[in-house]
Amino acid sequence: MSAQVLTRRLTISDLQKKAINNEKIVMLTCYDASFAKVLDMAKVDCILIGDSLGNVIQGKDSTLSVSLDDIIYHTKCVKRGCQTPLIIADMPFGTSQVSPKKTYENAVKLLAAGANMVKIEGGEEMVATTAFLTSRGIPVCSHIGLTPQSVNTLGGYKVQGRDESAAAKMKQSALALQDAGATMIVLEAIPSALGEELSKILDIITIGIGAGAATDGQVLVLQDMLNIPPGKKAKFVKNYMAAAIANGGTDVLSAVELAVKEIKNGDFPSAEYSYN
Ligand code: KIV
Repeated sequence: MSAQVLTRRLTISDLQKKAINNEKIVMLTCYDASFAKVLDMAKVDCILIGDSLGNVIQGKDSTLSVSLDDIIYHTKCVKRGCQTPLIIADMPFGTSQVSPKKTYENAVKLLAAGANMVKIEGGEEMVATTAFLTSRGIPVCSHIGLTPQSVNTLGGYKVQGRDESAAAKMKQSALALQDAGATMIVLEAIPSALGEELSKILDIITIGIGAGAATDGQVLVLQDMLNIPPGKKAKFVKNYMAAAIANGGTDVLSAVELAVKEIKNGDFPSAEYSYN
């Protein structure tokens, strides 16, 4: 597949093959058609319409008030802008923390808007819902570790799974989500060693954000890695705009291409962008 120019949208099986062949997977968030076109040109494997749009598009201080209609609108915009990346739509707060049947109805709307897969935050508590969706044809990407929708119960945006019992619980949840049919899992803000262990015990695709270098792929929030707006970001964010300019790049495409290259060749994330 890598030797040919791909003229169709990537599928989950394409990504599974990449993971099996130790080819790193690149996922970036995106919320509109023009950036989606740039990500497509840079050969990003998948695009996440994340509820991070609450922060980076809507200017809110959390993701909690992002609505299903917001994600539907941005999914449609992204879909129009790109041909190749797999499209994953986030299930915003309150749309998956309901009955499995209601979650299914919400997920159907995201697939109808153009998503190929939905992402659901949460561990053990999302197992039954994940099984309900996956057994009815909805591909699910789980999301564990730091789950921003639970900021109020987690007591802030903190690294998760640092102590032995939290790490054990995370492993148990990840395996249960895999058994429930999830085919991908995002691991956010956890120690690199735990990211590596989870990637070893799971057969499904692991995508890290602040989870070290051993996961099958990496995801970054587009505005964060482009340093928009300029300023301090989380430890796991690399400023690819600055790095591209330092390399003679002049535009957003050169920044995204550099991120793709560094993720693919394993240069990102280095220890500087990871947690011990
Ligand atoms: O909403 C989002 O952008 C996310 C990523 C940080 C994984 O969930």
